[in-house]
Amino acid sequence: MAHLLTLSELSLSEINRLLDEAETFRNGRPWHPATPMYVANLFFEPSTRTKCSFEMAERKLGLHVIPFDPERSSVQKGETLYDTVKTLEAIGVDAVVIRHHEDAYFEALRHSVGVSIINAGDGCGHHPTQSLLDLLTIRQEFGTFAGLTVVIIGDIRHSRVARSNAEVLTRLGANVLFSGPPEWEDDMNLHGTYVEIDEAIARADVVMLLRIQHERHAEKMGLTKEEYHQQYGLTLERAQLMKPGAIILHPAPVNRGVEIASQLVEAKPSRIFKQMENGVYVRMAVLKRAIEGRMQHGHVVEKWHV
Ligand code: CP
Repeated sequence: MAHLLTLSELSLSEINRLLDEAETFRNGRPWHPATPMYVANLFFEPSTRTKCSFEMAERKLGLHVIPFDPERSSVQKGETLYDTVKTLEAIGVDAVVIRHHEDAYFEALRHSVGVSIINAGDGCGHHPTQSLLDLLTIRQEFGTFAGLTVVIIGDIRHSRVARSNAEVLTRLGANVLFSGPPEWEDDMNLHGTYVEIDEAIARADVVMLLRIQHERHAEKMGLTKEEYHQQYGLTLERAQLMKPGAIILHPAPVNRGVEIASQLVEAKPSRIFKQMENGVYVRMAVLKRAIEGRMQHGHVVEKWHV
């Protein structure tokens, strides 16, 4: 089954193939399955970018989207995630895109369901399609990952984006640095070194800022928004430290004036909206992979048009 659960399960050649495929979609390549294919988007946590760009990608590929809203589903009557996915499989859904608050929710499904699972974010765990769109944006800018310094700043411990990106960027040959409040350092940190914020920004080719994940904190943040901005944010003054040619990324949603000065969100070095644009193409590539995987494993027997 062609699930996409974490990037760490993919080889570098598989990752590069997805990026290449995304680039061809970006260049306007048409592709659609010749037989009807059905996808459901199961978002148990709020989302704007990931949910809407998956829906855009699905429509661009001619897939049929089965609406699913957890708040108006039988989840409210106690149905488990497993039984929900089995139900969608039984009625003919081919792939499910899932965002869930539980880390590694997919482990209970991956060997037991006959639909392709695409992880749209699991708790503090992984966000593979965000990471792919970040990689595509970096590759478009620099043409390579090897030798780049990527600085990830903020709430590292609670960030699935940081975890996914640090692992894959290290494998691709980038030098990953972290910075941010000491209480949010990741004690599982295996893929980067912590440095002080001004040094981090001065060394970076890519400055990647993170949203503070308040919803995953056991305790209230000890700093005001303004204090956080001054101590750990990309302020207008700190942006002056950036190297010529360095770029700013942020997975968004952005809290303007907290992790980044509002004026920098759309400033010249920012690629924040470019990331969102790339998200559609990356998700088209991921959906195509899932569909082709089903075909190869005999779930779909019809021929396909390319
Ligand atoms: N970057 C990201 O995952 O945004 P959403 O939460 O809006 O999907």
